[in-house]
Amino acid sequence: MSIIDLIVKKRDRGKFSTTEIGELIDYVCNPEIPDYQISALLMALYLNGLDDDETSDLTRAMATSGDTLNFPNTPGAIIDKHSTGGVGDKTSLVLVPLLAAAGLKVAKLSGRGLGHTGGTLDKLGVFDGFQVDLNKTAIEALVNENGMVISGQTDRIVPADKRLYSLRDLTGTVESMPLIASSIMSKKIASGARYILLDVKVGSGAMFSDPEKAKTLALKMVGIGKTLGVPTKAVLTDMNVPLGKMVGNALEVREAIDTLHGGGDQRFRELCIRLASKALALTSGSNNDQQFDNHIVGLINSGKAFDKFRLLISSQGGDLTAVDHPEMLPLADFQKTLYSDTKGYISGIEAKKIGIGSMVSGAGRSRKEDKINLGAGVELHVSLGDSVNKGSPLATVYASDSQRLAKAIEVILPAFTYALEKPDPSRLILAEY
Ligand code: URA
Repeated sequence: MSIIDLIVKKRDRGKFSTTEIGELIDYVCNPEIPDYQISALLMALYLNGLDDDETSDLTRAMATSGDTLNFPNTPGAIIDKHSTGGVGDKTSLVLVPLLAAAGLKVAKLSGRGLGHTGGTLDKLGVFDGFQVDLNKTAIEALVNENGMVISGQTDRIVPADKRLYSLRDLTGTVESMPLIASSIMSKKIASGARYILLDVKVGSGAMFSDPEKAKTLALKMVGIGKTLGVPTKAVLTDMNVPLGKMVGNALEVREAIDTLHGGGDQRFRELCIRLASKALALTSGSNNDQQFDNHIVGLINSGKAFDKFRLLISSQGGDLTAVDHPEMLPLADFQKTLYSDTKGYISGIEAKKIGIGSMVSGAGRSRKEDKINLGAGVELHVSLGDSVNKGSPLATVYASDSQRLAKAIEVILPAFTYALEKPDPSRLILAEY
């Protein structure tokens, strides 16, 4: 079928066959097909949707549109964990070595941060020499040798998504469930995952603040995994408040290292343990949650997970000095602590405001080309439900310069809300599919 026929078919609410979806992705990967035709197709897809068969076909065709990672000689469970993105979400830094310590294999292809959420590659940039531009051979070798790798996605993995995503961004077609689900799942499948664990965030700092929408996305991705023979589990987790106490690259690395040593923020630690435990359940087909939780806690307390983190950093060329002495990680020069002007209980710490405040402080990018300051960000001194007095410290902001500091404070202060009564504890894991 010609590209025009495909556009017309979807415009008129037709259903694409597997062959037509294959042709569609061939057109997407063909530079001779102009952006305006792909954009028209995207709008037709956005408005008239894709059913479950079409979405799975699209995912499969996208996943094989470029290079794929293969691990034919790697025995065992190759799992990928994906978060839909949030504020203070440094889970991959803990989960990748933790899962490797548990005997699973993780080939994690990550991205850089944009907007109010951070990116794992930026965080790892705090370690001098750490290589994130690994080629396919190096990625496969590290997974075979160490059971883990964290690398940037090469241009040759899922090129169809690169073109589609950049056009969706410019054509008002990002917020389409089948397009989001196929975009995420195709990249996981192309990176050789035999199991997929999804952390779908819900709340003010997440892609979806509406739990129903997050649930729809989660179910779509689990359905795609089932159809394509890649067992997939999705967990819906809260992102109304930032995850952990640290937001910003070096700050988050400090918190991740604390957590790998058995300390850190209680809520963040709980999420890491629960996700790791779910990964063991998914890959073993057993549901002995308590036993898996205990095993994971044991891997942290024995130092095995931290040893794997050291190996992750050194095997990709990173300097271990800051791993062993996280107090040497950078902190931006312009610092100010914010204090409560009220007595009461902390009833909210709005994730999106903290995320934007951290970006404004210098930790993030509003445009892809922006430079970031690894030492910038926000350190929270309170958690939800804490009792505060007038003058209690709420947060310290670390910024690149005095202007950024002032702007960040303006955004961050209103993130805190107070109540006279102690609020009910908010749930971290909201649902599982
Ligand atoms: N993340 C992705 O990888 N793709 C989308 O479409 C949205 C979020």
